[in-house]
Amino acid sequence: MVLLCKTINELRSQIAIHRYQHQHQIGLVPTMGALHQGHLSLIEQAIADNDIVVVSVFVNPLQFAPQEDLANYPRQLEQDLQICQELGVDLIFAPSPQEMNSGGDTEALNSTTAVIPPQNMTQALCGKYRPGHFTGVATIVTKLFNIIQPDKAYFGQKDAQQLAIIRRLIQDLHIPVEIIGCPIVREASGLALSSRNQYLKPIEREEAARIYSSLQKAKAAFYRGELKAIALINLVKQELSSVERVKIQYVDLIDPVNLQSLNQIEQQGLLAIAAYVGSTRLIDNIVLQKRQPIIAIDGPAGAGKSTVTRHVAHQLGLLYLDTGAMYRAVTWLVMQSKIAINDEPAIALLIQDISLKLTSPNAVNLPTVVHIDGQEVTNAIRTPEVTANVSAIAAQSKVRTKLVEMQQQWGKAGGLIAEGRDIGTSVFPDAELKIFLTATVAERAKRRWQDLQNQGRDDISIEQLALNIQQRDEQDSNRAIAPLKKADDAVELITDNLTIEEVIEKIIELYNQI
Ligand code: PAF
Repeated sequence: MVLLCKTINELRSQIAIHRYQHQHQIGLVPTMGALHQGHLSLIEQAIADNDIVVVSVFVNPLQFAPQEDLANYPRQLEQDLQICQELGVDLIFAPSPQEMNSGGDTEALNSTTAVIPPQNMTQALCGKYRPGHFTGVATIVTKLFNIIQPDKAYFGQKDAQQLAIIRRLIQDLHIPVEIIGCPIVREASGLALSSRNQYLKPIEREEAARIYSSLQKAKAAFYRGELKAIALINLVKQELSSVERVKIQYVDLIDPVNLQSLNQIEQQGLLAIAAYVGSTRLIDNIVLQKRQPIIAIDGPAGAGKSTVTRHVAHQLGLLYLDTGAMYRAVTWLVMQSKIAINDEPAIALLIQDISLKLTSPNAVNLPTVVHIDGQEVTNAIRTPEVTANVSAIAAQSKVRTKLVEMQQQWGKAGGLIAEGRDIGTSVFPDAELKIFLTATVAERAKRRWQDLQNQGRDDISIEQLALNIQQRDEQDSNRAIAPLKKADDAVELITDNLTIEEVIEKIIELYNQI
């Protein structure tokens, strides 16, 4: 049951119970309310990673310039409460401006203690057009960190400048919180979700989607080898010049960490845009990363993902990021260390500093070569004993967080292919190629039945197999950790009438078009 706290004292005493009586890890999702799918993805991530989740809902006057939309900014606390309740949030902090001592707007920053981020970060991008905005954000976020003292705090990558400034803020002020940046959530049209989308008229909404397609145009040019800022920026401008209701405020290519303008991409660049669509100001961005592409393959059980992935990896010379082998390796280590499979805190400690190495095998039908802390465990992790325990280990959120962190670290260099349920939506949301590999339930039941027949088993009917598959799909799509979901920008491949060879060929063809 979600608890609404309107005062700092109330919230602090609730948090104290969790922190000191129960040793709970606390996650914070700061918001200005009017929760949409983008916020939901932050909240879901926070719930997966922490014992207790606090969502703050506060339309912060200090980050609005006098002529901005403070008075009209959407406020819908009842609806937000309902959403948080359904998601399983524990505490909502919805203070009044008086409670936060943040009355007025950015002008009030002159009469309050303010947290002023480095000028060279606030003068880039939006800062030029929204003086005082990031000081207002830094001030309120620091207050929230001081009041709640979360272990982790979640911010969207859509506000990339805000995210970079907050990362710098906690570093400079030594605030002990881990900042988690979460990928942009988009409508099917590509439009990045924002509370301000509510202001858009239907035709404006349609044209606003062109902002993302213009960034995509630049991304495509980048993958063809265009590295110069001027050329990438001009592509975006050119693409939007014919869109009647979209008026660009800025397009810039900057370093995503220090926010300084780049002349050309050396390793990575953030291509960011702000534009008015009618009278609504929207922002969006993409990260352009110099690396070999990543292929993310998601889809339901029994669609042939792992066979296809192995073959594509082999043919393209990519590393098969065998996430299953990683969970097996951790399971093996836990069993070796004689720690109980359900002792989550001890397991979290055990894997804190593990070193895992995956190497492609010499032949496509051999398993991935796995080293853990220097020891080769390729076969040891594939025993029936490990198989019996691996799903209990994989369900532990701390194990998952640690392994996803390692996967994303490897992903920085690119050149890999991974398969699972949420690779394209959560592990590598910026993968260059996302495939949703699926087949109808009837087809998957038929294939499974054939496999069983080949093993000499004829004790289960196709109808029963279809029922099992349907139930498994439902469980996979609705589970709290890593639910199965097709990424909006994934290519769906329905394999009912395709051979394995045809599927592999199709994926290689798509890869060659990146
Ligand atoms: O991103 C937002 O919604 C706000 O800027 C934040 C971080 C909640 C501070 O008011």
